[in-house]
Amino acid sequence: MAGAIQKKIRELSDEVEKHNYQYYVLDKPLISDREYDRLFKELQELETANPNDKQPNSPTERVGGAPVDKFKKHTHRVSMLSLNNSYSAEELQEFDARVKRTLHQSPDDVIEYWCELKFDGLSMSLTYEDGVLTSASTRGDGAVGEVVTSNIKTLRSVPLQLRGKNPPKLVEVRGEVILSHADFKKLNAARESAGDELFANPRNAAAGSVRQLDPAITAARPLTAFWYGLGAYEGGERLATQAELVQKIRDWGFRVSDEHALCKGTQAVEKFYTSILNKRERLPFDIDGIVVKVNSLRLQEELGFVARAPRSMLAFKYPARQETSTIEEIIVQVGRTGAITPVAILKPVQVGGVTVTRVTLHNPQEIARKDVRVGDRVIVQRAGDVIPEIVAVVLEARPSSAKPYKFPVECPSCGKKLKQEEGEAVPRCVNPVCDAQVKEAIAHYASKDAMDIDGMGYKIVEYLVDNKLIDTPAALYHLKAAPLLELEGFGEKSVNNLLASVEASKTRTLQRLVFGLGIRHVGETLARVLANRFNGLEALAKASEEELLEVHEVGSEVARSVAEWFAQPRHQKLIKELVKAGVKPQEGPRPVSGKLRGQTIVVTGTLPTLSRSEAHALIEANGGAVGSGVTKKTSFLVVGEDAGSKLDKAKTLNIPVKSEEEFLELIG
Ligand code: IVH
Repeated sequence: MAGAIQKKIRELSDEVEKHNYQYYVLDKPLISDREYDRLFKELQELETANPNDKQPNSPTERVGGAPVDKFKKHTHRVSMLSLNNSYSAEELQEFDARVKRTLHQSPDDVIEYWCELKFDGLSMSLTYEDGVLTSASTRGDGAVGEVVTSNIKTLRSVPLQLRGKNPPKLVEVRGEVILSHADFKKLNAARESAGDELFANPRNAAAGSVRQLDPAITAARPLTAFWYGLGAYEGGERLATQAELVQKIRDWGFRVSDEHALCKGTQAVEKFYTSILNKRERLPFDIDGIVVKVNSLRLQEELGFVARAPRSMLAFKYPARQETSTIEEIIVQVGRTGAITPVAILKPVQVGGVTVTRVTLHNPQEIARKDVRVGDRVIVQRAGDVIPEIVAVVLEARPSSAKPYKFPVECPSCGKKLKQEEGEAVPRCVNPVCDAQVKEAIAHYASKDAMDIDGMGYKIVEYLVDNKLIDTPAALYHLKAAPLLELEGFGEKSVNNLLASVEASKTRTLQRLVFGLGIRHVGETLARVLANRFNGLEALAKASEEELLEVHEVGSEVARSVAEWFAQPRHQKLIKELVKAGVKPQEGPRPVSGKLRGQTIVVTGTLPTLSRSEAHALIEANGGAVGSGVTKKTSFLVVGEDAGSKLDKAKTLNIPVKSEEEFLELIG
């Protein structure tokens, strides 16, 4: 009887572990979460009722063992060393040359390298004796680490038992515990709502999660790990190359990255480096470079070590995306709509290959939340094309003199009192003739995406405003050559060019002009929508809030903002002056008349002959507007095959539905 229960427990344990492997290592679940939970619970109940029959490495331990007071020490059988770093192709060449020199090979010989990702997490060593996980420990000082076995067992991607027959007598498997970007964000969001301190990056979060005295806390964190190396290895199959070694690790049931390559020579290594760099932003976790390893394990051994790093391996790193720097000053900037944004001025620092000196602090709440102070050391991050941001303050490094930042109450430009309206994140300077706003507004009007006045950058606008030569965009059209000639670096030719660009801007499209006016909430897209729906600037200026609301893409906030803007006498005057100065927007590409004038049409599904963009072009060519979603304002829906929720919505809202044929007939 007892034997039968023991057998059942063993079977259930194996079954649960199989599904852990399928889900967490292979990412190919075979059963639903509910079925998994049921199996797990059944095992738990059987074990509770028959504690003597519980397997020594039961998967039920993955929910976290008993908390400990202190981490025990673990001596690694083979030390966990570090890697030499390189940041350039030249350093890679030097590494390659040194490898050949040490091996007494000719410089013309080609070394085969195994290249893989350099994971940015917490390094870990797992010990398996006769195939059973007996300990997990951190790197520590490389010789002695800390025992975190109960914590690591909560990672369901970590095998409690090696897969396959004939496990080695002893093996140390090495890898990196990480947290994905998505899980990192979720974790920090949860911490923020709980009022807990945020983790600066996924690596710190992973490290903090593993180094928990209570394994239940680790169990609640969605950690995973990638495995790439071996320490001690006794009584196992002989391995000849790094590639074989990695395959072996994979066969034992570990999670191994698929991003690797066997590269003959440094050129191939560089290619791998670049291809991963191009993918870096899209990887779901952080890496800080690639690792280049001589593929032959015999050669690795022959190459040996220098100081604490193997001569056969190299970390070929990517520019760091996080650095620390010091806040020298916090200033506030006045935007073109009067919004006051705080900006941290940093001691210049290289982040991700770019020098960063200024970082936006967004708004007063953000400063308060992060408690950013002048003099603070901060972690600066630049990910991909994203603008640099301050991730966190290094509180341990805070100088005792650093005081909480006091947000100014007056505009730094005109000195008028700032106002902050309810629901707004930033205070504003509401003085319409504030110099800072005037400069921003004119520079925006002249900018590339607006009226595209070549050469009229911020610096020149600033000079012109400071010297009282202009105070509105309309004044640009009355500029004379003489004062411009006094500008440093300006000769007759550049002045003439500048004046010619000013002149040329008079016939830009209405869309550009509307965008250039700098109305709040009106970006390029909305400017296009408005320009297409109103017959000229004056018609738009006269439109009531209700009329604006009738435009499909315009919501109440935008309608109010536009109507209020044009209602201001100052702006009415500006429009008049622009018109008087000869600003006459060229007709946009779309007619404002046509069979579909005033209608908003949505296209959904696959049409029999027209592509989606052809259908859109036809709508626009006939004076209609293309809507993205079905709303009460949709005039009709053109449907093709496989129409989904939009058709349902149109039916619910009683919006007419037309086929492509009917649509083509309508427009003739
Ligand atoms: S091999 C002798 N391979 O980087 C050390 N390390 O900077 C052999 N790391 O301590 C390490 N990804 O924690 C190796 N694919 C990879 C790695 C990797 C990340 C970490 C590891 C190591 C550190 C050295």
